[in-house]
Amino acid sequence: MNRFAGQNALVVGGAHGIGRAIAARLVGEGAQLAIADADLDAAQSAAEEMRAWAIECDVRHTHQVQRMAQQYLDRFGHLDVLMYVAGIAPAVPFLDLDVDTWDRTQQVNLRGGYLAARAFAPGMVGRRSGKLVFISSTNAWDGEAQLAHYNASKAGLYLLAKTLARELGPFGIRSNAIGPGLIRTRLTEPILQEESFQKKYGPGSGVIPLGRLGTPDDVAGPALFLASDDAAYVNGVLLFVDGGQLA
Ligand SMILES: NC(=O)c1ccc[n+]([C@@H]2O[C@H](COP(=O)([O-])OP(=O)(O)OC[C@H]3O[C@@H](n4cnc5c(N)ncnc54)[C@H](O)[C@@H]3O)[C@@H](O)[C@H]2O)c1
Repeated sequence: MNRFAGQNALVVGGAHGIGRAIAARLVGEGAQLAIADADLDAAQSAAEEMRAWAIECDVRHTHQVQRMAQQYLDRFGHLDVLMYVAGIAPAVPFLDLDVDTWDRTQQVNLRGGYLAARAFAPGMVGRRSGKLVFISSTNAWDGEAQLAHYNASKAGLYLLAKTLARELGPFGIRSNAIGPGLIRTRLTEPILQEESFQKKYGPGSGVIPLGRLGTPDDVAGPALFLASDDAAYVNGVLLFVDGGQLA
């Protein structure tokens, strides 16, 4: 398939894990791609491998997102597909949760998504075309313990996606979200080592009907679907990719 031939794409948070898998698939399907990430070294090595372009951007800082968007537009002219993937998920019981952790999580997971969409939406409106995909989580729906800050950020990101679907839909722009379940990446590797987690999600627990954890590639396919013309009439959804966990 070459569904993104001639299209310009950007993966914010594309240096590792799910974002990297999405980036590789976009290039594989013909997109001209940039990876924006706070981890420039990893973004550069991913970009080199994929023949893409790496841009340094810590999404917590408004001016860095604006500068990244300007660099992108100076080089590529316009953006067709924005994938917002950047995210952090520090696990902290609510009674120990400090304001800094709360704020940092909102800044990366939610506010950064707003900043990225704000930077590119005017150009998309001008062209009457664009696709926005936000990587939310099953935790937009499921109030998983120790992740109040994360759950709130991902529910917010989903509502951002839905609101943009309404406000920007009339301009030919589609906005959707993906809700991954438990995907094996460096983000989840530490908690996957915990016995309590293995008991809850491991094979035989029945929590994940398909009986296995997800992979970054499991998420990349549905994310590309939402950005593709195959989803031309899909706008404002949260597509769970969780092996049936929320079924
Ligand atoms: N792994 C899972 O089980 C899972 C489940 C549901 C949702 N998600 C979401 O998927 C997304 C990707 O997660 P992942 O598991 O691939 O984790 P990951 O840590 O491998 O990838 C996260 C990416 O975001 C980047 N990033 C972090 N802080 C940033 C910042 N301030 N500015 C710019 N980039 C920044 C990282 O450098 C990295 O490239 C996250 O939003 C996460 O919340 C993951």
